[in-house]
Amino acid sequence: MPQPPFPQPDRARLLPENFRFGVATSAFQIEGAPTADGRSDSIWDTFCRVPGAVAAGDTGDLACDHYRRMPEDVDLLAGLGVDTYRFSVSWPRVQPGGRGPASRAGLDFYDRLVDRLLAKGVDPWLTLYHWDLPQELEDAGGWPHRDTAHRFADYAALVFDRLGDRVHAWTTLNEPWCVAMYGYADGMHAPGRRDRRAALHAVHHLLLGHGEAVRRMQEQAGPEHDFGLTLNLTPSLPATDSSEDVAAARRADGLGIRLYLDPILLGTYPEDVVSDLAEEGITLPVQDGDLDIIATSIDVLGVNYYFSERIAAGRPVREEDGPVTALGWPVTPDGLTDLLLRVSREYPAVPLVITENGGAFTDATLEEGRVCDGDRIAFLAAHIDAVAEAHVQGVDVRGYFVWTLLDNFEWAHGYGPTFGLVSVDRKTMARTPKESARWFRDFLRAQRQPQV
Ligand code: FCB
Repeated sequence: MPQPPFPQPDRARLLPENFRFGVATSAFQIEGAPTADGRSDSIWDTFCRVPGAVAAGDTGDLACDHYRRMPEDVDLLAGLGVDTYRFSVSWPRVQPGGRGPASRAGLDFYDRLVDRLLAKGVDPWLTLYHWDLPQELEDAGGWPHRDTAHRFADYAALVFDRLGDRVHAWTTLNEPWCVAMYGYADGMHAPGRRDRRAALHAVHHLLLGHGEAVRRMQEQAGPEHDFGLTLNLTPSLPATDSSEDVAAARRADGLGIRLYLDPILLGTYPEDVVSDLAEEGITLPVQDGDLDIIATSIDVLGVNYYFSERIAAGRPVREEDGPVTALGWPVTPDGLTDLLLRVSREYPAVPLVITENGGAFTDATLEEGRVCDGDRIAFLAAHIDAVAEAHVQGVDVRGYFVWTLLDNFEWAHGYGPTFGLVSVDRKTMARTPKESARWFRDFLRAQRQPQV
């Protein structure tokens, strides 16, 4: 583990002055309070009750108790010196059941959050959907069902109506690939379905919901508003030059990256993916006009980057001897530079922001109040450098948000893996900033010093 003095991202100095640095969280992973103020169940509440679905039987019932501790958490993140906080709104909290009028009490929470952020000089960056679909909408068919896209647009309009006067950055979806594939094909995530056709239908309806939501919000928006969505872009490179590996990598890239970027930014689905799917007997449920809606112009593309991987004949292969995180994810910062260069080359019209990057590491508590996580510091420094390198090479990249502020509910892994800059005692809920939090704060201070 690296010891102090910790690595510094030397190239960060080359980033533009208005480059954003932030931290990101999501509602279900931190809020808790599942029934407060009329909130209804989301698919994750239900999924957590399925025996064996989540490690150790963990649930989001308490999470980080952020619903009650929000003021303290805002003070904590403002103390890091970030200029932006990316959070998500819980759909079943602000529109229980996913239809009908907004819940005033639910919206009040986000109203208070936004006001407190602004009072501390932190810009709110709001994500509308970070995986917590109201259970009633899943019961009615979920994302494989077209109506869910329309419901999502209605929900977006409700939230915008209340917060659009103060929130300028709006992300519709977080990682639609994970929503569709983990949720409906692999069953590893809520709602735990295992139906590949349903998953591909979900992809189309997620993208349609994104486009409809942007259009609805744009009707009420001004020039100060930016709209976009966040994709998890995991580069898939062929493990060898063999035609099998090259073909497998093309398929993985098609299903993981181009199936999203092409319709959103080019207005078409990639032909090779459509024909691969046809071979499986799957047709995307596209209706007239859908692609125009999906390709509604956006102002920013959020990129979540964790690692890149090599693909051999259909399955990921991990470099045997390279460093990995506590979840076994390879540490591949150069892949981030390459990814940003590629996206900006193939889809040049849209500015990029890294809306999540971080790692799960085994933190060492040396003594009360001191949590050492040098591996996280090295990880973040290398990835910030990788972003700066992409900027130097001409990519229009405008921000970098660390995943995440607090150790939290890591989906099917429960509370085991820790990604936070701040640790959370599971018994007392006490927050302890790790060394990485101090490092990030000092880095941001230095970054803001006038350059000589
Ligand atoms: C991303 C999710 C985020 C978190 C990180 C580790 O895929 O968007 O909620 O779980 O992975």
